[in-house]
Amino acid sequence: MHEINEVFRKLQVLKKRAYAPYSNFSVAAMIELKNGDVHEGVNVENASFPVGSCAEMVAINAAVASGARKGDFKAIYVTADARNPVTPCGACRQVMAEFFDNDVVIHLFNQDGTEHEQYSIDHLLPERFCL
Ligand code: THU
Repeated sequence: MHEINEVFRKLQVLKKRAYAPYSNFSVAAMIELKNGDVHEGVNVENASFPVGSCAEMVAINAAVASGARKGDFKAIYVTADARNPVTPCGACRQVMAEFFDNDVVIHLFNQDGTEHEQYSIDHLLPERFCL
C-alpha cells in the first residue's frame, strides 16, 4: 500500500466509522490485495449481540465480494481501541485461513501505533480445520 505510518493513519480515520455502541470497542481493518486494491472494514454491532460482525471479517468479505480469492491477498492491517495490539478472534482466524496463504502479513497495531506486530495465519491458527 504505502508507508506503514500512512497505513496506520488511514486505519485511525477508518476506526471512527466503527459501529460499536454496545462494547464501545472500535476496531478497523484494511485489506491490501496484490493488485493494489484496498478494502475496508469496521466492527458492526447489533442489539442482538451475536449478530454483530468483526472488522476483519467485514474487510475480508468486502474483498471477496469484489472478486478476490485465495492467492489475491497481500496483507491485513488492524487496529482497535486498546493499549496493546488486539489479535483476531477465533472466528476471524478461520475466515483468514479460508483466504490467506501463509505469506499474507497480518499487521496488528495498538491504538496509538506505538506497537506493531506481524503474524502469519499458520502462526495464529495452527492445526486448523480445512476441506
Ligand atoms: N472485534 C473485532 O472487530 N475484531 C477483533 O479482532 C476482536 C473483536 C469486535 C467485535 C465487537 O464488536 C467488539 O470488537 C468487542 O468484542
